[in-house]
Amino acid sequence: MTQGARMSPARRTVLGAAALTTAAAAVSAAGTATAAAAPGGPATGKGAEAARGGAHRGLPVPTVIAHRGASGYRPEHTLGSYQLALDMGAHVIEQDLVPTRDGHLVCRHENDITGTTDVADHPEFASRRTTKTVDGTAITGWFTEDFTLAELKTLRAKERIPGTRRNNTLYDGRWTVPSFEEVLRWAEQEGRRRGRPVWLHVETKHPTYFRKLGLGLEERLAKLLRRYGRHRADSPTFLQSFEPTSVQRMARLVDTPRVVLLWTPDDRPYDFVDAGDPRTVADLVTPRGLDWIASYAQGIGPLLDLVIPKGSDGRLGEPTTLVRDAHARGLVLHPYTLRNENSFLPADFRRGTDPNAYGDVFGAYRAYFATGIDGIFTDHPDTALLAAADHRAR
Ligand code: G3P
Ligand code: CA
Repeated sequence: MTQGARMSPARRTVLGAAALTTAAAAVSAAGTATAAAAPGGPATGKGAEAARGGAHRGLPVPTVIAHRGASGYRPEHTLGSYQLALDMGAHVIEQDLVPTRDGHLVCRHENDITGTTDVADHPEFASRRTTKTVDGTAITGWFTEDFTLAELKTLRAKERIPGTRRNNTLYDGRWTVPSFEEVLRWAEQEGRRRGRPVWLHVETKHPTYFRKLGLGLEERLAKLLRRYGRHRADSPTFLQSFEPTSVQRMARLVDTPRVVLLWTPDDRPYDFVDAGDPRTVADLVTPRGLDWIASYAQGIGPLLDLVIPKGSDGRLGEPTTLVRDAHARGLVLHPYTLRNENSFLPADFRRGTDPNAYGDVFGAYRAYFATGIDGIFTDHPDTALLAAADHRAR
């Protein structure tokens, strides 16, 4: 089995935090040494932000990034989830993008829409259920690239993890799958209404896979960014991808700030697998790897375990030097993803035995914010905003 297959798209579903606890220890072996504290202390606050090139341009630090919207409370990637996040005060709202058959970009975490829409209840689409190999992994379901936007719009979004977030199922069927252009229009309207821009954090999903299907994401995204004035270095937008070559491609098309996402140390981004590039995430978090990233991006979005690895007991260990090393190269850090439920928290912050109950997430925020990260992806932006305010007031 190739690394590409092992690092499949299914790997980064909302679950999986627990499975990642042992991986981060490998980071130190790969070149980013663990350290109790970065020499000179972590860079935080306005001055540090300016020193890193101002990619945040006035955003509060730590910046709260609503992961798939306020997905802890509403079905992810719906206008309802984005609206709630914005109303809660989230600083930035995230979209993951995949294409339709007719080339529109829509907001879904993966192209397989089986788990987040009611497509299985539509007999007219039953024959479109199929098995595909996406980034080396065979997946059976219904796929956005087999639907036109008009067809997708007949579906309704639903909660991805109803077992964990039962209350969210109240909203199943309420919203459709949004196109990215709809989101851009929504952001424009909300920005006008509020008198300040609505920040977005936009990820290209499976860019190599889609390019091979003739559905390249980056050009389509760049066209929309230009149409809505988000193509400049000072636009209220971040672009992100797990595939560095997608980030590089975006750098050639627009000036919008860019973030390279990093998963576990042994992960090999799929574009690297496809091109025969042997580098893994462990290589990318070395000083040399970060130098390379800084040549075309303004930030990194590391798995939280790359910032503070967990031990074999699932408890937080000592921070790595990743924050210091990235900041030294002018890169901001937007790690992912902190959630309130016990099942997603480091073992030392779980409370009680119910995996779906909230744990001591404020304690976890304190630990992560103390490292000097610039922002954080979270499903629960309201909680993160309180924790960020606590951190700034300390
Ligand atoms: O994009 C940051 C974070 O969302 C990465 O994880 O798999 O939820 O897109 P994922
Ligand atoms: Ca994402």
